Amino acid sequence: MALQEPKMRVMRRDDIDAVVAIDALVSKQQRREYYERKIEAVVNSSNNINTSLVAELDGKVAGFIMGDVYFGEFGIPETSATIDTVGVHPDYQNRGVAHDLMDQFLTNMKGVGVKKIYTLVNWNDFSLERFFANHKFQPSKRINLELQLP
Ligand SMILES: CC(C)(COP(=O)(O)OP(=O)(O)OC[C@H]1O[C@@H](n2cnc3c(N)ncnc32)[C@H](O)[C@@H]1OP(=O)(O)O)[C@@H](O)C(=O)NCCC(=O)NCCS
Repeated sequence: MALQEPKMRVMRRDDIDAVVAIDALVSKQQRREYYERKIEAVVNSSNNINTSLVAELDGKVAGFIMGDVYFGEFGIPETSATIDTVGVHPDYQNRGVAHDLMDQFLTNMKGVGVKKIYTLVNWNDFSLERFFANHKFQPSKRINLELQLP
């Protein structure tokens, strides 16, 4: 039987359980509070554009991508975007779901005039790094600084 094409749509508030469950499976972390805050901000269309997407397969959320658009903020003159999280349910990995999410995300970003997209990947997360490299992401000229507070 031919594999079904995932259906892309904008993320909604009621996707929270599916998103938290997928994230828990792929990142081994429980981050409901983080996603509650994030989804609340992305679905509140009065102060930003909802860039976040989900992919549905068999009527279920199989994966998601979440990002933000910045119109000349943080001293960055050009309109830019970030990808904050991406995740695909292990049952649906390796069949192009993340690729389709990325494709749609990039199309949407081009549509709103974004010139550059930033993301952060842990240095030893090789599979995620490969996924971004396959989509032409490169090491940035900006460097990431941190300060550990006691
Ligand atoms: C990285 C991740 C998003 C990729 O999702 P995915 O849906 O499996 O990605 P894709 O299917 O588009 O691509 C994965 C591989 O499948 C291959 N593939 C794509 N479509 C395919 C198909 N129809 N048949 C066979 N292989 C296929 C791709 O070529 C790719 O191969 P590669 O990794 O060797 O380059 C997923 O593994 C994941 O969720 N990882 C955890 C990420 C994470 O930690 N998130 C939380 C913090 S941000």
